[in-house]
Amino acid sequence: MPAQRCAGLDACANSKRRLAVKVAGQMEGDLMSVIEETNREELLSVPCVRPTQIAHIVLQTTRFAQMRAFYITLLNAEVPFEDKDACFLRYDEEHHRMVIVNTPDYGPVNRRASGMHHFTFTYATLGELLGNYERLTKVGIEPMWSINHGFTTSMYYYDPDGNILETQFDNMTSEEADAFMRGPYFSINPIGVDFDPALLLERYRQGVLLSELVQFKSAPCDPNAPQTRPDDVPEYDAAGALL
Ligand SMILES: [Fe+2]
Repeated sequence: MPAQRCAGLDACANSKRRLAVKVAGQMEGDLMSVIEETNREELLSVPCVRPTQIAHIVLQTTRFAQMRAFYITLLNAEVPFEDKDACFLRYDEEHHRMVIVNTPDYGPVNRRASGMHHFTFTYATLGELLGNYERLTKVGIEPMWSINHGFTTSMYYYDPDGNILETQFDNMTSEEADAFMRGPYFSINPIGVDFDPALLLERYRQGVLLSELVQFKSAPCDPNAPQTRPDDVPEYDAAGALL
């Protein structure tokens, strides 16, 4: 089913901003502050109500120590709380973006079962994405696949359990990405073109303009190097069309 745009999306956002009257309050002995909502019936009937963000990811694992260490390293995360059963991770304004849950008796991850394929962390700049890539390579964490999706420059990693996560930089604005997805290239290749992350990093350091680096084929893979494109992802031809 085609995605439906909410005609009132901008109006919703503006409406919420306008209606949310900020009144700081204290509750339970300074443990909490809340923003009072004075226009309650209007908030309860905001048209096209939508979440503001994806708040967190919770992973259960039989490799608690390895998974904890991996995600702390990957995200440069802080640990606001942990015990023998769970480790909470934060790396931005949200109190926790990830929880690793210790489930030693559970079975392994099954990559061929229904459920989540991967989740993704966005970096603010291409430099930070590539710097994080370089930092991780120095501790033995290598991407298993690097691909320019058109709208993103993306690097995929396996975690110790075999879950797939992606780190990405947005090559385009959302409006540009909308147009890209409606354009002719996306119809022949909606997945993208692989790149060599070490070469992209090298070209970034050399000062190649960002407008070039975010293009397909800005850092082509060595044809003689082992292919990293996953087995379940179709290859593409010289024109970039999926085979
Ligand atoms: Fe993705």
